[in-house]
Amino acid sequence: MPMDSSKWIDVNVEKNHYHLDHFVIPQHYEKDLSSILIPHGVIMDRVHKLARMIVDETTGPLVVCCILKGGHQYFADLVNCIKKLTTKGGKTIPLSLEFIRVKSYKNDKSDGVTISMTEEECRELEGKNVLIVEDIIDTGATMVKLLQKLDEYKPKSLKVTSLLIKKTTRSNGYVPDYVGFAIPDAFVVGYALDYNEYFRDLDHICVISDHGKEAYAIN
Ligand code: IMP
Repeated sequence: MPMDSSKWIDVNVEKNHYHLDHFVIPQHYEKDLSSILIPHGVIMDRVHKLARMIVDETTGPLVVCCILKGGHQYFADLVNCIKKLTTKGGKTIPLSLEFIRVKSYKNDKSDGVTISMTEEECRELEGKNVLIVEDIIDTGATMVKLLQKLDEYKPKSLKVTSLLIKKTTRSNGYVPDYVGFAIPDAFVVGYALDYNEYFRDLDHICVISDHGKEAYAIN
């Protein structure tokens, strides 16, 4: 993945280091985070721009697919923005919403990929413009597997937006159509991204501390 791409904002710890004391953090997570990587306000501004880019390149109705659970906050904020925007031709975009449950992580390690979608839900996508909304691309394995499955049902178009992409040597090279931020190879939480179901109730995207990893580990 080229690191200097203008397709996304390159976040690195030297350039974008926010001390935990600079923002409000839920008291119950104070010891569990080492730094704030992307403050909530910056996320919201970037989501607005991503919505603009998506609307500019969309003609006709769109099926927006939320990847649960981690993608739900980005999905909700993105859909809210898309609803209020119009295309260059002054048209609003009719939206329908789908939800797909994907599970792949235990602690901070990938643990195989499971996708829950019924045959009927898959068939609904035939001939439609589909936009998949994901929280983060790490190795890319989850998204490649999901795209292979959905492609079999012949959507008219199949695009992906991910709020985050990790700069990691474990990447399989997959890059989504619309990316918010490229982040360092660290385990991040917040804005619905979890560590064993914790930290979804944190607004900023933060790096988890060793204390946090231990406190919420599953054996
Ligand atoms: P991939 O298959 O390695 O690309 O992993 C993608 C999935 O793993 C995402 O949908 C997340 O659920 C999860 N994931 C990967 N990295 C992180 C992280 O840093 N924090 C939280 N979840 C992550």
